[in-house]
Amino acid sequence: MPAYDLILRNGTLIDGSGKPRRAADIAVRDDRIAAIGAPGSLRGDNEFDVAGKVVAPGFIDVHTHDDTALIENPGMAMKASQGVTTVVCGNCGASPAPYIRLQDTPHFLSLIVKKDAFLSRTFAEFAGKVEAARPAINGAFLVGHSTLRLSVMGNDLDRAARSDEVSAMRDMLDGALGDGAIGMSSGLFYPPAMHATTDEVAEIAAPLGKHKAVYTAHMRDEGNEILQAMDETFEIGRRAGASIVVSHHKCSSRQNFGRMRETLPKFEAAAKDWPIAFDVYPYVAGSTILRKEMIDRADKVLVTWSDALPAASGRDLRDVAKELGCTVHEAADRLQPAGAIYFQMSEADVQKALSHPMAMIGSDGLPLDKHPHPRLWGTFPRVLGHYSRDLKLFPLEDAVRRMTSLSARNFGLSKRGLVREGYYADLCVFDPDTVADTATFEAPVMPARGIELTICNGIPVWQAGKATDRYPGRVLRLQELKAEA
Ligand code: ZN
Ligand code: CU
Repeated sequence: MPAYDLILRNGTLIDGSGKPRRAADIAVRDDRIAAIGAPGSLRGDNEFDVAGKVVAPGFIDVHTHDDTALIENPGMAMKASQGVTTVVCGNCGASPAPYIRLQDTPHFLSLIVKKDAFLSRTFAEFAGKVEAARPAINGAFLVGHSTLRLSVMGNDLDRAARSDEVSAMRDMLDGALGDGAIGMSSGLFYPPAMHATTDEVAEIAAPLGKHKAVYTAHMRDEGNEILQAMDETFEIGRRAGASIVVSHHKCSSRQNFGRMRETLPKFEAAAKDWPIAFDVYPYVAGSTILRKEMIDRADKVLVTWSDALPAASGRDLRDVAKELGCTVHEAADRLQPAGAIYFQMSEADVQKALSHPMAMIGSDGLPLDKHPHPRLWGTFPRVLGHYSRDLKLFPLEDAVRRMTSLSARNFGLSKRGLVREGYYADLCVFDPDTVADTATFEAPVMPARGIELTICNGIPVWQAGKATDRYPGRVLRLQELKAEA
């Protein structure tokens, strides 16, 4: 009688803690890791010989906009193909819930929502839609501060919220945390929240402390004013009594290249007496909506989508402007609503941030884009292959740690992020010699190489280059996570 449901035999275990690799068998029963044994020692119904391959915890993508992708595209191939088993959604101030409709779907929310039906008045209702869609991998969700603003202030966003509006937003956040959201994100860089004051955000965020939830920030500024923006972010998190995550840390535009020298020590100093973390994606280009202010700060701009001129997808904005016979700024107006990729960072800064022991890996991929940034399909294998193996920036054990246990700890994802008995069986098997991203800026929709098997809650979801058509993903709710901590 086999004792276990599934065995990964003869693999090289990198357990997510950062400790050196070792040979081991891993046994799974139901949705948990049931045993870790000497090579060849364990037996089960379904056995995989993974000799020569690395067995790691499933990767946690801490910065995503996959909220509605989990519903519309439950196979989540763009993530399962990278070994990702959990996505943290609702970043940058944008979430589909809790949202009260006061107007047509604002352009800002089109970053994450294609169908209005996915917008939900309560987080409980939204989580129910995700569960009904039965995604292949797990989702944890943040409440977007901009979503709260759009719900309470409608179109009237070019000012700070009044105190009655602040309490309405605070109540909405409190309710959503009670329903299982794991924290709040803000996007003070974006128009819907640009006019929010530090006080406004800190007061809305107050329930985070009571619920022991996290605050994540797409900061007001990632360029000239980055140090001030970091101070503001730290102040908001501390006043709310919340742990803090700075999203997609970067020093943007040429005049700020090299300033990781200032920002990284500032993170270290602040982390001495407060839980503070940051995430990074492994590319020198960012991507978001097409904004004129951002064009001048970038060396090059690629259009990712345009409702007005769909044929512009994937093309250099300069070429589009030339064809239209206008300036790039006029072209940006004519393409609206639209999205873009901006080449705006230095490779040296990206490498410095990626190598920092505090850095978590997050893709920031935009799953609804027609011609997405390659980070959507390539982030995790690019860190493992290009940056760890090929450039030797950091050992593989450390790359894995910053995709798994560090991420689980910073976001409170209990019993995930380590290969340990009793933990959930979220696992990834990859070939350390061949793992690589294949998605490029020219051809961005390409599954990674070398990811052999992705297991979520004990069930294989990606195997031998294909989705298995199984859907064991769960909504990870704050209260359940706390109960298991
Ligand atoms: Zn962002
Ligand atoms: Cu983002």
